[in-house]
Parts: sequence; structure tokens; C-alpha cells
Amino acid sequence: MNMKKWKPTVLWFTGLSGSGKSTISERMFKMLAERGYEVEHLDGDVIRDIFPKTGFSKEERNSHIKRVGYLASRLQVHKVFVLASFVSPYREARDFVRNMCEDFTEIYVSTPYEECERRDVKGLYEKARKGDIKNFTGLDDPYEPPEAPELEIDTTGISLEEAVQQVIDYLDNHKALV
Ligand code: ADX
Repeated sequence: MNMKKWKPTVLWFTGLSGSGKSTISERMFKMLAERGYEVEHLDGDVIRDIFPKTGFSKEERNSHIKRVGYLASRLQVHKVFVLASFVSPYREARDFVRNMCEDFTEIYVSTPYEECERRDVKGLYEKARKGDIKNFTGLDDPYEPPEAPELEIDTTGISLEEAVQQVIDYLDNHKALV
């Protein structure tokens, strides 16, 4: 296993629901914690459980992203390694967070809609198809892909370990402390 030391960054995972953001960041969280980093994981589903009235309009999503992004930036100032997993469909809000953070690494989890729909881990794609959920990202709500993400991972046909390895390789190549 590679044991390079990395500069703490805000690793921001964006992509469709079910694309693999939370799973990859959870695994990264465990690995970083085991390696002795101060690390925090901020996740859309977890935060929305705590604040269930956060809606899915463009305005509500963007306010939610800017608030959690601010929190991420504050943690990072104190050298905490931050993993953030949010659909964060709008470029404007993601760029707002990027500009706020001292060190920001955007990871576009680009698993296509069809694959996320096929997995349908939470049954949301089926509900959205039936019209039981409105403003569903990728169906009747937009997703604006990052134009220049630091890293792009399509999890179709690769294992969790392979996806995590891509993040590790990125950190080794760009955030290694000599
Ligand atoms: S964001 O768009 O505001 O960044 P966030 O990551 O916090 O989204 O929450 C997305 C999660 O909420 C999805 O993974 C899914 O479980 C759930 N969800 C419920 N309704 C929707 C919807 N209309 N669009 C996207 N995700 C939804």
C-alpha cells in the first residue's frame, strides 16, 4: 500500500444520485482516518436527514451547497481533510465553493444516468419515473457536468477498490507532501 503523506484538501464529489459518490467517499474516509488524518465526511443524504425541509429547487439546492461548502472551507482552514458528497448539480454553486476553499479538488463521478437507474439503490429512479418524485436530477431536473474537474471517475464496470485507487493516484500525483 502506498503511504505518501497528502496535503489536506476538500475532496468534492459531484454526480447523479446513485453514481457512487457516497460509497467512494465513505471508503476514503475510513482509509484517511486509519492513516491518522483529521478527516470529516459531509454527505447530502445524511445532512438532508437532519434538515428534512431542504427542498430540491435550484435555489434550495444552491443554498444548501453553499452552506455546506462554507462549512467544508472552515474545516479545511484547520487542516481537516474534507470529503463532501453531494449531487450539487449546478456549476455556479460548485464554483462558489471552489472559490471559498483554500484547496479544492472536484471529483466528477460521471457514472451515466442509465447505469444509476439500473442500480437504483434507493428506489428513487423508479419513483421519479412514475412521477412520485419531482425535480429529479437527470430526469426532469438538470445536471451541469463540471467543465474542468480535477478528476473524473465513471464507476460503470469497475470495483469500489478501483475507484478508490483513482482517487489515491490523484492525491499521490497532486497532493503529496515531500
Ligand atoms: S443536492 O442536489 O442538493 O446537492 P444532495 O446531494 O444534498 O443533493 O441530496 C441528493 C440525495 O437526495 C440523492 O442522493 C437522493 O437520495 C435524494 N433525492 C431525493 N429527491 C431528489 C431529487 N429530486 N433529485 C436528486 N436527489 C434526490
